[in-house]
Amino acid sequence: MSEQPWWQKAVIYQIYPRSFQDSNGDGIGDLKGILDRVDYLSWLDIDAVWISPIYPSPMADFGYDVANYVDIDPLFGTLASFDRLLSALHQRGIRVILDFVPNHTSHEHPWFQEARASRNNHRRDWYIWRDPRPDREPPNNWLSVATGGSAWEFDRATGQYYYHAFLAEQPDLNWRNPAVRAAMYDVLRFWLDRGVDGFRVDTIWRLIKDAAFRDNPVNPNYRDGDPPFRRLLQVYSTDQPEVFEVAAEMRRVLAEYPGDRLLIGEVYLPVKRLVAYYGPNLTGAHLPFNFNLMFVEWKPDAVLRLIQEYEASLPLGAWPNWVLGNHDQARIASRLGLAQARVAMTLLMTLRGTPTLYYGDELGLENVPIPPERVRDPFGVNMPGTGQDRDPERTPMPWDRSANAGFTAGEPWLPLGRDLSIQNVEAQKRDASSMLALTRALLDLRRRELALSVGDWAPLAVEGDALAYIRRRDGRRFAVVLNLEPVPKAVRFADDLRGRTILSTHPDHTGYAVGDRTELDADEAVIIAMEHAGNTARPDATG
Ligand code: GLC
Ligand code: CA
Repeated sequence: MSEQPWWQKAVIYQIYPRSFQDSNGDGIGDLKGILDRVDYLSWLDIDAVWISPIYPSPMADFGYDVANYVDIDPLFGTLASFDRLLSALHQRGIRVILDFVPNHTSHEHPWFQEARASRNNHRRDWYIWRDPRPDREPPNNWLSVATGGSAWEFDRATGQYYYHAFLAEQPDLNWRNPAVRAAMYDVLRFWLDRGVDGFRVDTIWRLIKDAAFRDNPVNPNYRDGDPPFRRLLQVYSTDQPEVFEVAAEMRRVLAEYPGDRLLIGEVYLPVKRLVAYYGPNLTGAHLPFNFNLMFVEWKPDAVLRLIQEYEASLPLGAWPNWVLGNHDQARIASRLGLAQARVAMTLLMTLRGTPTLYYGDELGLENVPIPPERVRDPFGVNMPGTGQDRDPERTPMPWDRSANAGFTAGEPWLPLGRDLSIQNVEAQKRDASSMLALTRALLDLRRRELALSVGDWAPLAVEGDALAYIRRRDGRRFAVVLNLEPVPKAVRFADDLRGRTILSTHPDHTGYAVGDRTELDADEAVIIAMEHAGNTARPDATG
């Protein structure tokens, strides 16, 4: 059997660097802070960290507005402190994935400064410029994700509009221009040369826009409370076929380097369109992020249908992946409640494919309510009262009971949550029933039992309204049975599982024999080790 690339067995841990650990008392997390916590990362036993952007930036979108792709923002450290962190993580066997933000630069990036200087500047065409319509209105009806208003900003000095899918401070690069591509691929090489193990490519599905810039159609299903930009369907502003060529080029740059460097793509699309980002003949992203668990209706049928649809849609040889939380979406513990967050963690760690774990979810961190005067996220500032603020899921990591939970000696840039006596690393390390203990047990089991990471997945038919499936590899078989509701369930299987529970969200519920039925507590998920492989009929079955 050929060796699998490291990332197929890996668990990826996302660090939002502003909020992980502050080392100098300015209230903002930094690289030295992450370095001070590598023992924790090693103890938690994750395989890779993905670090949200750390490049020089005016921070209009907290680093997703890059002013220099080949340096570190002084807020976070220096290239030297980055190198120290990289080697400390590598020493512990932890890989490092950087956030690569190619769709747009900061408006302060020298490229944009040049581009806006005049219509005939040699960098003009590095961005997307269009004349006003005869009535001086923007060139088309496209809407900004970050404001809900027009995605076009008028530049008085040169009399044209430029396009920005997000903030006006984030002008979109023109990825149809070969010079842009070449420059950005050199950025990848800069970091690959330093030794990074891969990239998470920000909003890759937006890189190429319709060549004719046609108006987007109205979204007939738009409802009050949806993000304002969803008033239109993003038919022409996103997901254009030429994007696969770009992804393939990025892949080829990574392939210039040894060691299975990983390309992840951020893609918010339903399963059928998402899987196209593996690219023709798997030339695209190794892992187009699969966010669908974050939006599925939390019912056994719906989740099972999602898993089956995804498994069935994967191109031959494509590797699956699952995500439960990130810096753009409400915390899982707030979406489902703390008890179901444990069930969801069990699901994440027992599905086939590479899981991504968002920092703090291993503690069951909840959204932290942000008073209006402390809102920092531009989405929250620009679209107040619409639920678009992303600060609640970006709050500081609580480490211990000390002031500011050990995150900073200064004033934290965002408030910490309230239940910090329980929701902190130190307290949960000592508590065998904590979310942290569960997460670690799941990671440990997953590492020991390849069936759970790279094994086959198959649904398990049950009576009793639970989600159930089998993971199997080389004769090792596990049944995973999850109760997605806060009421106990009696579950009946078609066959005798001849198993024993080896892990439960309810810590004392292990070691039980399981035959053709089991009882699940409210909000309980169990992993059952099955005695022998194959599904041969029992010789003495008596009906
Ligand atoms: C991605 C990032 C998000 C950012 C946006 C613009 O969706 O995850 O945080 O605001 O791209 O770069
Ligand atoms: Ca700091």
